[in-house]
Amino acid sequence: MARKQRLRAAPRLTPRATRRAPRHGSIRFFGAAVPADSLREEVIEGLSRFPKTLPPKYFYDGEGSRLFETICRLPEYYLTRAELALTRRHLEEIARFAGRGCELIEYGSGASLKTRALIRRLRPARYVAVDISESALRDAVRRLGREFPWLEILAVLGDFTEPLRLARFRRRNARPVVYFPGSTIGNFTPRDARAFLSMTRAQVGGHGAMLVGIDLKKDPNLLHAAYNDSRGITARFNLNILRRINRELGADFDAQRFSHYAFYNVGLGRVEMHLVCLAPHSVRVGEYRFRFERGESIHTENSCKYSLEEFQELAAEAGFRGVRSWLDRRGLFALHGLVAA
Ligand code: SAH
Ligand code: AVI
Repeated sequence: MARKQRLRAAPRLTPRATRRAPRHGSIRFFGAAVPADSLREEVIEGLSRFPKTLPPKYFYDGEGSRLFETICRLPEYYLTRAELALTRRHLEEIARFAGRGCELIEYGSGASLKTRALIRRLRPARYVAVDISESALRDAVRRLGREFPWLEILAVLGDFTEPLRLARFRRRNARPVVYFPGSTIGNFTPRDARAFLSMTRAQVGGHGAMLVGIDLKKDPNLLHAAYNDSRGITARFNLNILRRINRELGADFDAQRFSHYAFYNVGLGRVEMHLVCLAPHSVRVGEYRFRFERGESIHTENSCKYSLEEFQELAAEAGFRGVRSWLDRRGLFALHGLVAA
């Protein structure tokens, strides 16, 4: 994700629809889908590199988000279950840390699955969901609106690596708490993760806080299985990026000529996902043509794994102090509570 932190002009967050729910609840939509021009520009830039790359944020169109939700239920993909379990297990302490009535801002909210327990316990003054996938965002906030009719919800469609100027919507007196679960921060390189944490530290200010989910270093065989599931759903998720590029940019990838390849790079502490070309292939994207040799790869995702100390050091470099770390019983996953140093 965001190999270079590009801080473009913030997108204008224009109200798109408003539904008033009974009492105080409401859902408001802001932002816009990534323009086709940005997708084209980043795809062409990534495929022009050696080795070739594609940004993982483009996994998440409607189909990609559905596949990701299926991944979360797979027996091999322990991450979601472990984080859900630790959230339930330590809910009282997590709630004490965040504070009742805070403004809960979730980056990469997806299906907002783990958020439910937090919302129930925290009764936030407002829940702000930020995601790049329009279908996932709409489905999730509609479900939340039905489940929590009292909740004020702001659904922001956008790229969280760009400054979203959320401060304009800030509820005065409510403590901003940025919730970044799922180990989505692991999809940044450590350098980009540090830059992202620094940006968030500036956003939440001196009295705000952050809750970050981190997948911990562990037996590489467990990691290997999680990204090479027996039903081949992760492979479909990975290959879907090529189908999306075909559909949205009129490109002509033959997805059947690519193979999903994921492995744990022990030296770099990350699972790498690649699409490896099985036979020579020439692909047109707009007016550009890209040649793929047999065995050549497109690097589509990094999923960095940290030890508790490694992540706390990274957070400290970004101006945060780690107050608490909560773990699941098996020590697979951690949620970190961070405040300004
Ligand atoms: N938080 C959920 C979902 C994690 S999947 C969980 O813990 O299960 C990652 C989510 O982040 C997806 O919903 C995806 O659409 C979103 N996402 C990925 N890159 C993004 C970006 N750059 N900006 C905004 N959302 C992004
Ligand atoms: C969203 N992200 C944290 C997932 C991960 O584990 O890196 C995406 C994913 N890639 C393959 N499986 C799931």
